[in-house]
Order: sequence, then structure tokens, then C-alpha cells
Amino acid sequence: MTSTQPASPPYYESFAPSAGTRPPRARFRSDAPELDLDCTWRFRLLPRADQPTGGFEQPGFDDSGWDTLPVPAHWQLHGHGRPAYTNVSYPFPIDPPHVPDDNPTGDYRRVFDLPHDWPDGPAVLRFDGVDSCFAVWLNGTALGYSTGSRLPTEFDVAPLLRGGRNTLAVRVHQWSAASYLEDQDMWWLSGIFRDVRLLSRPAGGLDDFFLHAGYDHTTGTGTLRVDTRTSARITVEELGLFDAPAAAVHEVGPVEPWSAETPRLYHGVLATAAERVPVRIGFRTVDTSGGVLRANGRPLLLRGVNRHEWHPDSGRVLDHATMLADVLLMKQHNINAVRTSHYPPHPDFLDLCDEYGLWVIDECDLETHGFEEVGWRRNPSDDPRWGEATLERMRRMVERDKNHPSVIMWSLGNEAGTGQNLRAMAEWTRQRDPGRPIHYEGDPDSPYVDVYSRMYAPHEEVAAIGRYAEPGTADPANDAHRRALPFVLCEYAHAMGTGPGGLAEYQELFETFDRCQGGFVWEWIDHGIRRREPDGTEWFGYGGDFGEVLHDGNFVADGLLLPDRTPSPGLGELKKVYEPVRICPDPASGTVRLTNTWAFADTSGLAFLWSVTEEGVVVAEGQLAVDALPPGGSTEVPLPVPPVPATDRESWLNVRAVLGGERAWAPDGHEVAWGQAQLGSTAPRPEPAGAAPATGTEGVLTLGPGTFDSASGALRSIGGVPVSSPVALDLWRAPTDNDHAQHGISVEDQWRRLGLDRLTERRVATEMAEDGLVVRSRVAAAASDLGMLVSYTWSGDADRLLLTLDTEPDGRWPCPLPRLGVHLALPPELGAVEWFGRGPGEAYPDIQRAARVGRYTRSVDELQTPYLRPQENGNRADTRWACFRAADGTGLRVEGHPVFDFSARRWSTRALDSARHPHDLTPEDRIHLHLDLAHNGIGSASCGPGVLPQYELRPTGHRLRLAFTPLR
Ligand code: GAL
Repeated sequence: MTSTQPASPPYYESFAPSAGTRPPRARFRSDAPELDLDCTWRFRLLPRADQPTGGFEQPGFDDSGWDTLPVPAHWQLHGHGRPAYTNVSYPFPIDPPHVPDDNPTGDYRRVFDLPHDWPDGPAVLRFDGVDSCFAVWLNGTALGYSTGSRLPTEFDVAPLLRGGRNTLAVRVHQWSAASYLEDQDMWWLSGIFRDVRLLSRPAGGLDDFFLHAGYDHTTGTGTLRVDTRTSARITVEELGLFDAPAAAVHEVGPVEPWSAETPRLYHGVLATAAERVPVRIGFRTVDTSGGVLRANGRPLLLRGVNRHEWHPDSGRVLDHATMLADVLLMKQHNINAVRTSHYPPHPDFLDLCDEYGLWVIDECDLETHGFEEVGWRRNPSDDPRWGEATLERMRRMVERDKNHPSVIMWSLGNEAGTGQNLRAMAEWTRQRDPGRPIHYEGDPDSPYVDVYSRMYAPHEEVAAIGRYAEPGTADPANDAHRRALPFVLCEYAHAMGTGPGGLAEYQELFETFDRCQGGFVWEWIDHGIRRREPDGTEWFGYGGDFGEVLHDGNFVADGLLLPDRTPSPGLGELKKVYEPVRICPDPASGTVRLTNTWAFADTSGLAFLWSVTEEGVVVAEGQLAVDALPPGGSTEVPLPVPPVPATDRESWLNVRAVLGGERAWAPDGHEVAWGQAQLGSTAPRPEPAGAAPATGTEGVLTLGPGTFDSASGALRSIGGVPVSSPVALDLWRAPTDNDHAQHGISVEDQWRRLGLDRLTERRVATEMAEDGLVVRSRVAAAASDLGMLVSYTWSGDADRLLLTLDTEPDGRWPCPLPRLGVHLALPPELGAVEWFGRGPGEAYPDIQRAARVGRYTRSVDELQTPYLRPQENGNRADTRWACFRAADGTGLRVEGHPVFDFSARRWSTRALDSARHPHDLTPEDRIHLHLDLAHNGIGSASCGPGVLPQYELRPTGHRLRLAFTPLR
């Protein structure tokens, strides 16, 4: 019998992660020449990995018939193959280390000229990131292969380099054994997606170095030592170090320590006779002594986000401007920490974190989550055959990034189960870099890590952990070890669609319990892929938009930024909750309390501005005289104005902390924090006197400015403004991703079972009285015996029409209601909105800290938040009054007695509910106006806890009162 099986597996199905590559080392730029090989390469895509090369690696090969592809790029975003999104599931059978025969394979060619002045001697070819497995040839000779998509690979190439023309050939496979280690929740995208460089490496140069810059907080002094392979000298003029031996321990005396708040870098030069490397030194010491994560002796409070690398056009290919935009947006939104979920980022990003100041958890490119779906059978994390592949990943990250002061923790990876290989990664790392704690969330026992980390733990569990009262684990030694660790939430507050709710309550826990040292919101940006309709309409694709057989839909869109980096309302809320300075005006005591929660910076860089507004209009303003508050300091400053205003218009005192001068990350005047408090109290709005309804012609009944259908009692117009869909009880909202809760308890399922999306109304009675009109009805769904008894009581005077809506559940409603209010439809031209209430952004009961009381104007179109999957959005809360006007100023004013929520859109809730993408929503010739007593909270059940009890809209009796005035 003959066998057709290959003698040994091909390299792309090998457990060995690489062959022919150089040992990992620090990444740096020096005065040695570099050649940038990014640009347009020749490219062809083959359907399988086992196709003969056909000699494409040879210099003489004719590639003129090939396509071209930019490097760096993902080929799927350039018309070759298609992107595919899965969260946990592998998009191929779980059969490690094997991958499907259908294995898209990209062949790349790049012919380049070596510059005339390129020095002789060693040279290295570096790939910063290739997804997922690649083999390389230079001038026809194989150099080796590598895996580890988000990690650098270097080959020695000096013997093969030629003067003049050189031919570089690269074969990249979409799937490889390494794909089992790279099951992160993101798009599957392939190709050479980070930079390619040729580096001259001078003999006697600095192949690698490890910079140790410690800070002793008890003395305020720094220590500097640089480990090098070749003996080197260091100069840091500012520290009085001139050409000193790098390897010696230099007590450099008093230094300004590095922190995310005060990212002080000292510039120096590390040199050998053959090479000079500019270095940036940040003095800082991180430890977890006493079970507290500290930097420079002070406990840290991580106000973090998880950041995947994403751009809607180029995927995980990020240019410098995009990386900088991320850092600036983070700083501007009071974020102080980043977890590089779930792989080491482009190295330039870490340079930016050093420079602008962000604490970083650098995470290894390792996730094997798909094995969970088969009970973790054959999980690579616990299989010795994968030992080298997993350890090599850790080594490559630590060696590359070890000189960044911003990196304060190493993370072994994400969701890779448990096992000996993870332990080996931790042990190697601890020995190589004792100066940084080790993080890994996936092992509940946490025996080999230095922080206890969890994801999506609900508030009450975080509180229990804060009190060291979490449930125990089986092994007493592990249990004791874990209980001695500081706690972080490496993921919390899933920012998918509208939300996340509950941020402020998490922050209160972090600020209450010393053990709880903050967390990282999931996640920074929606990974939507920009697409265009033939008419130019732009939209962002998510899972399933590219014909994937297996996909996880819009679960890839769970960021604080929309894909084009427009901040979502959730980011605004996070900025407020993460405020480093707390401002609490207290008219009762006549003071403003100011608290500095920074650990390292004082408030001397801030100006405290105050203003008084009357019904949203500024009537007085000035600046508070505040001495610089030290880190952790607090003070009370007298109120600048009398606590009771000389007006009956609703008055507020607003105090804002703004940058008093330009900073690297924001302009002069940028707002960092604010607080406001009402001055005096508001008298109830006067009620209409009450007028008798009058029966007119053609079945019309009039009451004040309103006209009604005399038979049904339905409102038809208010002072000439037609109401095309009469005022009617509204309990339904287009479920949010958090209502939907794909992975948790879905309140949407309960709502749909109850039929809240298909309610009908039966009129019980229309009653005319001396001073008004009462319409009673019962609202209920087919096949259900639950109902809501509703009465609409209308009264009015010459100018105003007042509605009192009363609801009473009929039967036992088992769950919170989506919303409670009324819906009506107005003419489409009333599209200019002005309101006095919370704003300017959307707000729901558990996400409204960022919405301050003021007067705002927006168009109806601007009130919408275009979440990638359409859903309830755009609610404005605690509105005192709102005006909906046409261009000529006519329209309708709605007043709350005392307040209401509103949303206004050009499509119905039904249309919003059924649309897959924003561009599916077609404006109707009317405005749907929703006036609500309340909404249910939002929570973050799309991957976390649901709505906290205090934010649930209970199905009890409710009353909403609204007055309508025509604007003529
Ligand atoms: C976590 C995971 C993330 C992401 C998130 C949900 O379990 O670590 O990668 O999938 O859930 O969006």
C-alpha cells in the first residue's frame, strides 16, 4: 500500500513557531541606516497553502501579471478575499495543529535597490507584524518562517544582500497552527500589516539593551542602569551623566518621576563606538507590596480602556496620526490607562504612551478562547507541544517593549484557559523582568500572577472582592495567594451600542475599596468596516456583512468610539465618571468642595471657572481663587454668589475645571471636570385655568388650542399644528444591545414574549367634563391577559393644553418596562429643537452623569446617535421644556410638570427596531416625538451585569404631566 501523506507537516502546521529567525530584542531607532520597505508590493492570492511557489521567490521571476498591494495592509480590505468576524468560535474545525486545505495564501514580491552608501556588515530584515504565518526569501534563498502576528520577526540577511538590486519574496498564509493561538474577538484579517524594514547593524553596535530607571519615593532620587550585550556608555546631560559606563548603577540624585499624570522623560544617548541610540528615560518603580498596586510608592487607580487597533478603512493597520488621535482622545477623556487588548500594539503607540502619559498593561498575542466551546479539550495552554510557541510569544513581547516606562504590567494573554504553558510564560517573565507585575485573567486560581483580575464582575461582586470576601477557590494555597493580591477589572462596562450604564457605581467602588484599583472599559472603538452604497452613502459593516457562514454579528461593535472615531455618548459619560478633580457646589453650606484625586499631579495647571445661568442663559461668571491642591487634597471654597437667586427662573451654579494653558494633549481651556448645583428651588409651573371642551363641526371637539376627534377623543392638532399620529401610550423601545444581551439574561426576550412590541389600544370611554376631556383605554398585546389601564386627562386654557397621563397595570407584570410615555407625530418641518434640561447628549437613568442642566439647540437629525446596529438612542432627560420649530419659528412647545424625557426622530420605533444599519432608516414625512416619564436603565448586559435595581422602570402606577403650547 502506498501512502500519500507528507512525511512531516508543512511549516504552517508545525508546533514550532518559527525557524531561521533572530532572538528577540528591544526595538529602538539608532544612527545606523535603515531602509523602509513599505510601499506598493507585487501580490497574488492563491486559494491554498500547498501550491508550489512556481519560482516567485527567484529574482528573475516575471511578476508583471500580478496585482499590487500596499504594505502594510490586509489583503481582505483591498479586494482579495473577504473579512470575517467571529468572537469565540474558530472559523475552521478544531483539529490542532491542522488548518483547512482552503487556506488563502498571499505571495508578495518587492524589488529594492540597496542605497550606494549602505555600509558593509551585519544587516537585519525586520517584519513588525504579519498575520498569521509567513516564509521569506531574499534573492532566491529561503531565510525561514515565522508566526506571532502582532510580534516582530527578524532575520539576519547580510550574507544574502547584494549591492544594487535585491528581491524580497514573502509567502503569507491566512491559517496556520498559530491561528489556534490567535483567537481574539476581532476580524480575521491577513497579510503584512505592519512595517517592513532593512536595518544595518554595525559590528560592535547595540544589539539590545534593557534600561532600568528606578525611583525611590522615600528619597525622591533615581537610579539608572542599562544592561547591554556590548559594553556601552550613557549620557544624560540633564542628570549630569556624561559618557558614563552604562552597566554601572548610577545614583542620579533627585529626579522628577515618570507617571501617567506627569510623564517626565529624560533624554539621553546610549552609545558604543559603532552606534548611538537616543533613549527616553522615565524614572518609575512599580510594585504590589501590601497587596496594593503602586507606582512610585502611591496606589494607582486605573481609569482604563481596552484598546484594539482599529481603523475603519485599513483594519489593524494604523498610521501614526491615528495612534496619536487615540492617545489624545484618551487623555482628553480623563482616561489614564490602556490594556493593549489582546496583543502588543504597534510599537509607536507605546512611544506615545510614554510621551503623553498612559499606564499600560501590555498583553501578549495569545488567545485560545475557541477551545472553551469544546470543554477546553486539547487547549494549547496546557499542552507541552505548544510550550515553545507560547513562551516565544511572551519573550518577543517583553524583549521588544521592556524599555517603555508606560508599560507597568505584562499580561500573558487573554482567554486562553489554564495550563502549564501559561505558568512557564509567567515564570520566565518574572525572572527576566522582576520590575513589573504579571497579569492574566483567565485562571480563577491566579497562582502565578501578581494581580487578581476579572472581567464583567457585577457591582456587588466587586464590592465583595473589595472587602476580601470573594468566594474561595479549592486550593487553600492558591486561595491565600489570590486574597493577598490587588484587584483590577481587566474588562468591565461593555460599551456595545447605547450605554454602558452603571459606570458611576463602579467608580464609587473603586474609590471606596483600596483593593479595587480600577479597571478597563471594554472597549475603545467599534471595529466597523467602512462601506459605501452606489450613491455614496457611507456605512460600517459588521459580522455577517461579508457573507460569513459563521459570525457574531455586531458584537464587534462595542466601543466608546464609533468606527470613524466619533466619541459616543458612552465616552462622554466615562469622561465625567473618570474626572480626576471632583467639584461639588453646595449652596446649602455656601461652598464649593474641590477634591484632587490625582496621585501625582497638583491642580496648579487648572483654572476653576464659575457661571450662573438662569434657565440656561449665563447671567454672571468669573474665576474662583483656588490654591493648588496637592495630590489627594481637598478644599472648600466659598460660593461666589448668593445661594438664593434674585429671580424665579431656574438658576444653576456651574463650576468647571479647565486647563489654564496649552498641554501636549489638549488646548488651553480644555474642560477636565465640572460640577453644578441648583440655586434656590423651582416653583411649580402654573397650571392652565381649565376650559370646557366645545363641540364643533364635522365631529371635531375643541379644548383650548387643541382639536380632538369627538368620537374617539384622539388629539388632531394643537393650535394649528397637525398631530398626524394621536397622542398614545408608548411602552416600547427599539431594544438596545444591552437589552438584547446575547450572552446574558435578555430583557428584550421578556419584553417580546409579553408583546410589548405589538401593543394594541382599546378605548374604554371618552368623557367630557366641565373643565376638560378624559379618554380611558386599555393597552394590551394579543394572546396576553396583561394590560395597562390608561387615562388621558386633557384640560386647557386659551394658550395651553395640559395632558395628565395616568397608567395602572392590570395584572402582574413580571419585568421592568422599556419606557413609559406617549408618542405623537408632528409635521416634518418642525425639525429645530431647543430645550432646557439635561444635555446636550443623550441620557438614560444609569448613564446621565455627563448630561448637565442647560439650554441646548439641535436639529432632529443631530439628536440621533448612529450606533452601527440601530437601536434606542438619543433620549434627552429631565427636560423642563422643549420647543420644536419650523424655519419660520412656528411650532410647538412642550412643558413638563415638572420634567419629562424626549426623543424625536424621522422614523418609527418599529423601523428603528428592524433596521440592520443606519442607512436602512428612511426618513418619513413626519417627526415621531416620544415624550416619556422615564426609560428603563441601560446596564451593560450585552456582556456584563444588567440594569441596577434603582434604575429599573417598575410596572407600577405612573403619572406624566405635559403642557403643549403652539408657537405662532
Ligand atoms: C471578553 C473578551 C473580549 C471581548 C469581550 C466582549 O470576554 O476578552 O475580547 O470578546 O469579552 O466583547
